[in-house]
Amino acid sequence: AEKKGRVEFRDVTFKYPGAEAPVLSNISFTAEPGKTLAIIGSTGAGKTTLVSLLPRLYDVASGEVLLDGVPVTEMDSSEITSRVSAVPQKPYLFSGTIEHNLRFGKPDATDEELWEALETAQAKGFVEEKSSGLNRRIAQGGTNVSGGQRQRLSIARALVTKPNVYLFDDSFSALDVATDARLRKALKGKTKDATVIIVAQRVSTIADADEILVLDNGRIVDRGTHDELLETSPTYQEIVES
Ligand code: GTP
Ligand code: MG
Repeated sequence: AEKKGRVEFRDVTFKYPGAEAPVLSNISFTAEPGKTLAIIGSTGAGKTTLVSLLPRLYDVASGEVLLDGVPVTEMDSSEITSRVSAVPQKPYLFSGTIEHNLRFGKPDATDEELWEALETAQAKGFVEEKSSGLNRRIAQGGTNVSGGQRQRLSIARALVTKPNVYLFDDSFSALDVATDARLRKALKGKTKDATVIIVAQRVSTIADADEILVLDNGRIVDRGTHDELLETSPTYQEIVES
């Protein structure tokens, strides 16, 4: 069977409600199952806005966003939620147990699936360190865990749903370089059939992506692999040097 999760943006332009200027202009790209697409660019470039259009947090002003050839505007929200897992830039945890937080997208997941997701997300040790384990309580907003732990629990939650598409919005920034590398290696093994879209700040996080989009001021200014962009993209070179 053909793998599912092909994402296509066709000439997408987007304005926030009430704003005058578009935040994204003429965005076109395709992300394929089994591949990793990375998006990089300076703060305010429009990366978070771009990835919010697939799960339809907002709808486009013009152009189209398609999932396996179907415009997301024609899909119902439960279908999108079950097929696309987004790890937001500011991950949210609910007040409740770790288990409750992890089962959010897939209430019938087994404990084994939860532990497997925690292991991939490099959060197993953190959950095991207290005897309450999966029953450990998370305070509202996740204020009793660190930023990096919130990110890893949020990644584990996304893994539990086994979606066709993963969106990671700056999900690795609070991790030290070694944990980041371990996590991404483990993720690779678990997301082989899915489409992975990674927004990143650090070039080291995305250097092995199949394609990198360089976003500047709401436009894709360059695209290519890491090696290609090092040769061709002044904007990318600036990011590498910063
Ligand atoms: P970083 O996460 O800081 O790296 O930036 P980003 O590339 O994710 O940019 P983002 O998509 O968050 O923002 C792009 C532009 O849209 C910026 O000019 C923001 O000020 C603006 N913006 C973001 N969210 C909103 C919103 O909810 N309403 C309005 N009106 N503007 C927004
Ligand atoms: Mg952002």
